[in-house]
Amino acid sequence: MESGANIKRKREDDSTGRGQLQQKRIKLLESRKQLPIWHRQKGIRDALREHNVLILSGETGSGKSTQIPQFLLSQPWCREKIAVTQPRRVAAISLARRVAEEMGTPLGSSSPASKVGYSVRFDESTSPSTRIKFLTEGMLLQEMLRDKALSQYSCVVVDEVHERSVNIDLILGFLRQLQLTRRKDLKVVVMSATADVDSLRRFFAAKLSMPDEAPSTDEKPDGADDESWDGFPENDQPETTDIATCHVEGRQYPVVTQYLDNPTDDVLEAALHRIFQIHCKEPTPGDVLVFMTGQETIQALQKLIEDLAQGLTTDYPKMLVLPLFAALPQAAQQLIFQPPPRNTRKIILTTNIAETSVTVPGVKYVVDTGKAKVKQFRNRLGLDSLLVKPISQSSADQRKGRAGREAPGQCYRLYTEASYKTLDKDNKPEILRCDLSQAVLTMKARGVDDVLGFPFLTPPPQEAMGKALLQLLQLNALAEDGKISTVGRKIARLPLTPALGRVILEAATSEMDCLLEVIDIVACLSVEHIFTAVDTEEGREKAQIARSQLLRREGDHLTYLAAVQAYAEEQSDRRRWANEHMVSHRAMQSVMDVRKQLTAQCRQAKLLQDQEVRVATDEATQERILKCFLRGYSTKVARLCPDGSYKTFTGNQAVAIHPSSVLFGRKKVEAILYNQFVYTNKAYARDVSVVQLRWLEEMLQ
Ligand code: CDP
Repeated sequence: MESGANIKRKREDDSTGRGQLQQKRIKLLESRKQLPIWHRQKGIRDALREHNVLILSGETGSGKSTQIPQFLLSQPWCREKIAVTQPRRVAAISLARRVAEEMGTPLGSSSPASKVGYSVRFDESTSPSTRIKFLTEGMLLQEMLRDKALSQYSCVVVDEVHERSVNIDLILGFLRQLQLTRRKDLKVVVMSATADVDSLRRFFAAKLSMPDEAPSTDEKPDGADDESWDGFPENDQPETTDIATCHVEGRQYPVVTQYLDNPTDDVLEAALHRIFQIHCKEPTPGDVLVFMTGQETIQALQKLIEDLAQGLTTDYPKMLVLPLFAALPQAAQQLIFQPPPRNTRKIILTTNIAETSVTVPGVKYVVDTGKAKVKQFRNRLGLDSLLVKPISQSSADQRKGRAGREAPGQCYRLYTEASYKTLDKDNKPEILRCDLSQAVLTMKARGVDDVLGFPFLTPPPQEAMGKALLQLLQLNALAEDGKISTVGRKIARLPLTPALGRVILEAATSEMDCLLEVIDIVACLSVEHIFTAVDTEEGREKAQIARSQLLRREGDHLTYLAAVQAYAEEQSDRRRWANEHMVSHRAMQSVMDVRKQLTAQCRQAKLLQDQEVRVATDEATQERILKCFLRGYSTKVARLCPDGSYKTFTGNQAVAIHPSSVLFGRKKVEAILYNQFVYTNKAYARDVSVVQLRWLEEMLQ
């Protein structure tokens, strides 16, 4: 029994907590009123009262993501929740936190009274009272598998549509179908940071010739019940004038742009030079935002800056270097939003995350390398690869805009003005350049059998669709007749690519029986790199020694497993352990998060028993683990050719083992399996293990 005094203290704590939230809310109201969107709220509410679709364009920072859901919450039509989709986890979480503060409500699952929550892969934080839910696009697609009519939402806000990821295109197609069929009442707000909204308007205005909602088989897709199923006849579609558009002017200060006079080969060096010039010559305050290509270059630059900064005299402010990339653990990502300590300048090294979807306060200087890592589907090989590519002019302009959010700023482009002029005008939609197997499986799981007839904002190439169907057939996710199989349904419910989902299912069979181990490896694969980057020969040797207990001659997969198991067993000081073994403590924290969530999901899906116990991994299990990966990645196998190179089975393309692999520089083996194909100066396989051709033959029999 709790004592009376305890209960009283708790009540007082609660009311102080509430009081603080309210005070914060009042303080924030002033800054909300300064946002360009604030004075448009009546128009926006009216538009949505009369129309079901609102296309809203406006500069990053004009207040779209934070304000729109709050403007709409009290509307009479808004009886259920509002979903706001985000391309990235960090944006979904930080927006939820910010909107909760603005509304004076606790965040997510921290209190049953919380009105604002979020849901991102491997982390859901909502309460029974949640009214506004920020979620990644992938999570909304997952929810659509369970609740096709999205009955818990009155409104879906699709943010950042200018990014045109495959997930955005799928969501738009599904929402369009839904509005024409079972949810004529559903309000859809589509938001973009660029003003080019014509294609969106046309998309929502077009009549669909063949609504795909109705199941074309005897079997109804997941979750469909008889009453709610109502295919929508073509001539019964609502009039197409149901679209409102609105453009919000940004609050943009002038930004001076400087280009290089001559192109550079060494962007890292150029960035380093520019950052120190800004830091030593420009007065504080004013933080620096540097756009890089990915985790590895960011970490390399971070180290260079930190080393060099040690030599600075006390005449200069301190430098606080903060990385920002998708695989960074949440707590580290949130640091960028905090003001720096006194007499300190923040240097934020980011991927294109900070281009539009995350607003970093305090930035006055932007350094733009002009490159980004993009997914590119190579049709001939049937593979997705990650390529470092020049960005588009529209991306370059967005990056530049980040310098002028709070005051006039400066943007340093580490390329010439002539090369800016040669850049593509806009980003190419991802659907035109990536592997579509996940997209096709999502459609199939939602009952769309005729995937070619789906309402795409930009129809993908037929060849890529064909490849995706073939891959899903190979994974047994589709049956011979093209319908989704039981295996396919199970894969679709896992927050993983079809190939990784297939690996998980294989590991769960009684024959393979190695799911806990495979989860550990999959968790590592979903976090970009668990080993700290080394770029010199000397560093490589040092790493070899530090990691010697973890390295496995069978390859990266079993090495990852050894690393996770050792890290998980370490009870006293994990940070020290990670440093000693040259493993990234930060990455490992993310791995542990993912591992926990994935285990819970596998339990929920009845792939794991409640009381599964971990036992030491013996050699026979190791072989089975690799066989499971082979099941999902049979198209990513390369065999040794007489000339000493590895060539892929599909496409006969030469691939080299990436220097980051434990197999790099080792004795050649008969065949390798890999998870990732990257193309920089040549084709590399990443996350590589040794396999036997015999296993592949056994599997194909
Ligand atoms: O969506 P849009 O880019 O138009 O703007 P927003 O994300 O709603 O941001 C509006 C303002 O809210 C920003 O300029 C920040 O001042 C603030 N904000 C914040 O402090 N923290 C966040 N996580 C998001 C926004």
